[in-house]
Amino acid sequence: MRDVIDRLVRDRTAIARSDGSVHQLFPVAIIPDEGVALRDWVIRESARQTLEVGLGYGIAALFICEGLLTNGAPDAHHVALDPNQATRFANCGLQVLDEAGLSPLIEFLPTPSEIALPRFLAEGRRFDLAFVDGNHRFDGVFLDLIYLGRLVRPAGVIVVDDYQLPSILRAVSFCTSNLNWRVEGQSRDDPRHHWVVLRTPPAPVDSGFDHFVKF
Ligand SMILES: C[S@@+](CC[C@H](N)C(=O)[O-])C[C@H]1O[C@@H](n2cnc3c(N)ncnc32)[C@H](O)[C@@H]1O
Repeated sequence: MRDVIDRLVRDRTAIARSDGSVHQLFPVAIIPDEGVALRDWVIRESARQTLEVGLGYGIAALFICEGLLTNGAPDAHHVALDPNQATRFANCGLQVLDEAGLSPLIEFLPTPSEIALPRFLAEGRRFDLAFVDGNHRFDGVFLDLIYLGRLVRPAGVIVVDDYQLPSILRAVSFCTSNLNWRVEGQSRDDPRHHWVVLRTPPAPVDSGFDHFVKF
């Protein structure tokens, strides 16, 4: 797995087995520093069940799985969603996970998060940690966060990419100002690209039906 991560970071390209197309990984994929941060959060939280919105080129998934394997739980499992994996990404994300020998850990669904997440909730599924890098529009991220707040264990961690975007900042701001989520960490090194680490509350906020804090 390490070899695959190192090769992709060095070459910055992937060639799709399915159709021979050549893909520039960056800036679509997360940068290696973010991958390391993500992996370290998976380890720090002793996560066993993780969920990712937006598989893309699979770089975040590789780092998340590196964390899961470090944790060593026999039931380690990573769920990745991406409705565009077979088309826009020519299945490169699934391909790199396969090359890294991680396919047995992965449950991939080509389903948009706004469909998959409520379904997971209805099925009673739970996750230890989630990563959001999917639909970056306000309504998309807002829905992801609201559902993930219920799917991730209480006082759990949700990492959100592209926090420099106003749409994402506002969606996160709703959760911190109205739902008692905390910003646990934030990247600042690159002004063009931020990610944020959120901690959900230990119990849902029990506010009145007309509770609303401007955000
Ligand atoms: C920036 S890319 C993710 C890159 C990935 N984190 C990586 O490291 O390679 C965003 C991804 O989100 C996916 N996406 C867009 N809308 C989505 C949705 N509604 N649900 C799930 N994934 C979505 C896109 O198809 C794309 O693969």
